[in-house]
Amino acid sequence: MLSLALSALALSASGATALSSKRHASLAQRMKSERPALRSPVWHGMGRDSTFQLEDNCQGSTFFDCFDYFTDSDPTHGDVVFVNESDAWSLGLVSSTSDQAFLRVDNTSTLASGQGRNSVRLGTKKTYDGALFVLDVERMPTGCATWPAFWTVSQSQPWPLGGEIDIIEGVNLNTVNQMTLHTGPGCEPNTPSTDYLAQQLGTTCASSDGANAGCGFLDKNTTSYGAGLNTAGGGVFAMHWDGGGVSIWHWTHDEQPCDLADQSGSPDPSSWGTPTAAWVADGCSPYTYLKDHQAIIETTLCGDWANSNYAAAGCPATCSDAVMDPSNFNDAYWQINYFSVFTES
Ligand SMILES: *[C@@H]1O[C@H](CO)[C@@H](O)[C@H](O)[C@H]1NC(C)=O
Ligand SMILES: *[C@@H]1O[C@H](CO)[C@@H](O)[C@H](O)[C@H]1NC(C)=O
Ligand SMILES: *[C@@H]1O[C@H](CO)[C@@H](O)[C@H](O)[C@H]1NC(C)=O
Repeated sequence: MLSLALSALALSASGATALSSKRHASLAQRMKSERPALRSPVWHGMGRDSTFQLEDNCQGSTFFDCFDYFTDSDPTHGDVVFVNESDAWSLGLVSSTSDQAFLRVDNTSTLASGQGRNSVRLGTKKTYDGALFVLDVERMPTGCATWPAFWTVSQSQPWPLGGEIDIIEGVNLNTVNQMTLHTGPGCEPNTPSTDYLAQQLGTTCASSDGANAGCGFLDKNTTSYGAGLNTAGGGVFAMHWDGGGVSIWHWTHDEQPCDLADQSGSPDPSSWGTPTAAWVADGCSPYTYLKDHQAIIETTLCGDWANSNYAAAGCPATCSDAVMDPSNFNDAYWQINYFSVFTES
């Protein structure tokens, strides 16, 4: 309770709250999604011995082939309806050009009080046990009532066992990105302060329905989230999970490493310098606490975290009121250059 209270304090001091988990509602729902047989990768830990192969490249007109559509009610209690694939296309909530993909929130329908607004939540058809995930965005959703997220979560174990890694997450008018690990009891990484650039919010990753702050980091740079990220022309996020732990990097397009900028297909995280956020294996074995993750890209509206932050963010009236008016969601879209997954050998 003490560490939770402290981490909640740190979070509220920085304008965020402790309610950041975006878990699925139930294992049964998760098991509905298509799941290939698990691979048995050989891991070499962090370091220069590893080479990375491009396993999935989701971009432009083929972007959506990598994903299933989640259509259950939002586990974080948002005022949202996650539409299915056919509705997403016919309503224009997903679209692509030859090199970009768009995920939108409905910005044409005026809704009655309490009605959920149409949006899209995509989850990868594949699951991964360790990998390097890269998301390059030109733009992300922003504005009062929005809660966009790019994250991974276990498909083989009930939350929080099997873990959740939040790579891009925030609500309303947040100005910096929050990155969080949620796990079962016992994961407390002893990450040296020289191993990350962001502000550490907590080290107790164990999460539950009533206490789901997890162990998070808050970026120090406003280019990492929302309006600031969009003004900077977007950016690149990478999450590397292997035997050495989990690391997340964020760069603007100008700052990204050459081996991502050139899309050569063989990035080397060991050459990228200090990550934005990191959770080392010491104190939290990455293949014990994290298993079989699906990657998810979504925009939900209101719900647990966005509601509790709404007034503090200076947003008008109530979050549910905001959802009724379509003109509040003109900026609530993802414009994605690519999503790629690399595996190590
Ligand atoms: C998609 O959702 C709509 C609205 O709920 C429903 O009418 C339609 O049958 C669904 N389509 C498929 C292919 O499931
Ligand atoms: C913040 O972003 C700017 C522009 O991208 C960059 O020059 C600066 O080094 C970053 N600062 C930190 C603390 O990461
Ligand atoms: C919806 O938002 C898009 C930008 O995402 C904008 O181009 C369009 O004009 C908006 N639609 C309406 C009805 O305002």
